[in-house]
Amino acid sequence: MRNSTDHTAAAQGTSASASVKTVVVPAAGMGTRFLPATKTVPKELLPVVDTPGIELIAEEAAACGAQRLAVVVAPNKEEIMRHFGEFEELQKIMNRRGKKEQADKVARAGELIEAVAVTQDEPLGLGHAVGCAEQALGSDEDAVAVMLPDDLVLPAGVMDKMVQVRERLGGSVLCAFNVSRDEVSNYGVFDVVDADASFDGFDVLQVRGMVEKPAVEDAPSTLVATGRYLLDRGIFDALRRIEPGKGGELQLTDAIELMISEGHPVHVVVHEGKRHDLGNPGGYIPANVDFGLHDEKYGPALYPALKKIIADFEAEHPELINEN
Ligand code: UTP
Repeated sequence: MRNSTDHTAAAQGTSASASVKTVVVPAAGMGTRFLPATKTVPKELLPVVDTPGIELIAEEAAACGAQRLAVVVAPNKEEIMRHFGEFEELQKIMNRRGKKEQADKVARAGELIEAVAVTQDEPLGLGHAVGCAEQALGSDEDAVAVMLPDDLVLPAGVMDKMVQVRERLGGSVLCAFNVSRDEVSNYGVFDVVDADASFDGFDVLQVRGMVEKPAVEDAPSTLVATGRYLLDRGIFDALRRIEPGKGGELQLTDAIELMISEGHPVHVVVHEGKRHDLGNPGGYIPANVDFGLHDEKYGPALYPALKKIIADFEAEHPELINEN
């Protein structure tokens, strides 16, 4: 059994890739689906077992060889950056009390990767948030990775595959996840054709377009977008040229669609594995159960506790037993 961090990138032997220097982490959204918690606590700091989602992303970014995390934050969400700061006094107290493991946990976020803040003054959408991060890129960077802290993609390492695809096919590379047909209406769905190249051990398809939350019968595939993007630097120019959509928000997918319409190659790596959506309580709770069960400290007691909760629930609702 692994501990909670071992469930993530650093422990899974992902190889370093030189091609990603900056990972943009948009974290300036309002987190309304987590109210009332998000009145005072940014959703990116809510823990999966004991580790905030933003730190799990920092681990994934560091494991793929990135040097810098450009965290897009809202003016009232500075607490997120504090998480990457120094806590010398707290570390000292933990060490003095012989709590070495806790002291290491205090230090880890700051040691993983250099985190820099980029401010998004108003929550004008994911596309706008990514656009704000252009200033954080070095002049030598011709591509940028974007990782959404809401999305846990397991096992980690998909960005390494995406880098391989960009190295061979150029353009931009996204990550797709296969869902059952009746789930497609919750997601952005890819319209894909076969790619001109094949890759060892994973599927790659070329993207013709995307349809946001289609009706089941209109969905062009069952491959849906997840929160990992490797985008050509041209994305920033495309973001300046698109119009705001619903709610005045700039959509990242609209900018990607614009690039596709202008002949920019976009491919998807089809991720084989698990995904947890930490952006709403319905996805956050199973993520905690999954990480908790794999945690060497909490897993052994959690397993029988969960079985009991389920048994009690089924006794209350016998009608559900045959349904599932
Ligand atoms: P979401 O739409 O899932 O986040 O954006 P949200 O807006 O915080 O969620 P709700 O709907 O209010 O509950 C996906 C990611 O993009 C960031 C969010 O912080 C989240 O990590 N984001 C979204 C921004 O950085 N800026 C924005 O304007 C919108």
